[in-house]
Amino acid sequence: MIGRGLMVAVLAAMALPAIPAQAQVAGVDCAKAKCLALTFDDGPGPQTPKLLKVLKKEKVKATFFVVGKQVERRPAVLKQTVAAGHAVGNHTYSHPSMPTLSEDEIFTELRATQELITSAAGITAKMFRPPYGHADERVVRVAGDEGLAQVKWTGTTLDWQLRDVKKIKAAVLRLARKDGVILMHDTVPQTVQAMPAIIKELKKRGYTLVTFPQLLRGKKLTAGAEYP
Ligand code: NI
Repeated sequence: MIGRGLMVAVLAAMALPAIPAQAQVAGVDCAKAKCLALTFDDGPGPQTPKLLKVLKKEKVKATFFVVGKQVERRPAVLKQTVAAGHAVGNHTYSHPSMPTLSEDEIFTELRATQELITSAAGITAKMFRPPYGHADERVVRVAGDEGLAQVKWTGTTLDWQLRDVKKIKAAVLRLARKDGVILMHDTVPQTVQAMPAIIKELKKRGYTLVTFPQLLRGKKLTAGAEYP
């Protein structure tokens, strides 16, 4: 039996936690704040749940460009990613170099992943990132017809090549700048390992870590447009 006073206190406590931190990120104005978007490609992978824990602990939102084949293997991880407030984009179904494909094949690569994202996480992705950054006018147009904006990056860490915690951290810090978009991979274990130290240092340098759509200062992503 719980006393009425205690019950009220319990309910109040249940309603309050986590709201201030979330509001801080959701209400961030990147016109004023020194915003930076961390982006992770090629997952969801075996390391992604560990990364989600780190981001949660640090109260940081990020952007994930997911591969359809991987979503098929780990739909629950994608669901968890979306539930945690991170942004999700389409990174094709099988990670091809898209300019080598026919328009039908480009469409199929994107469409299959749109459907997998929706079925796993209940959302419709509004952005895509072309594998290897390879894109042409046809890729952008077909993606636009699918309701997708193209999102590349301002700095690539080459983490998949470095495979070294210290070097990956140094690369991110070197590439960081206001309104930057940093490309990493949640499939590289050393990137996930480096993340707590990277986030701490970025915060120390005054960065607010946001999702890519938050960098747009309230403007909506435009299908068929190219960012950043
Ligand atoms: Ni990729």
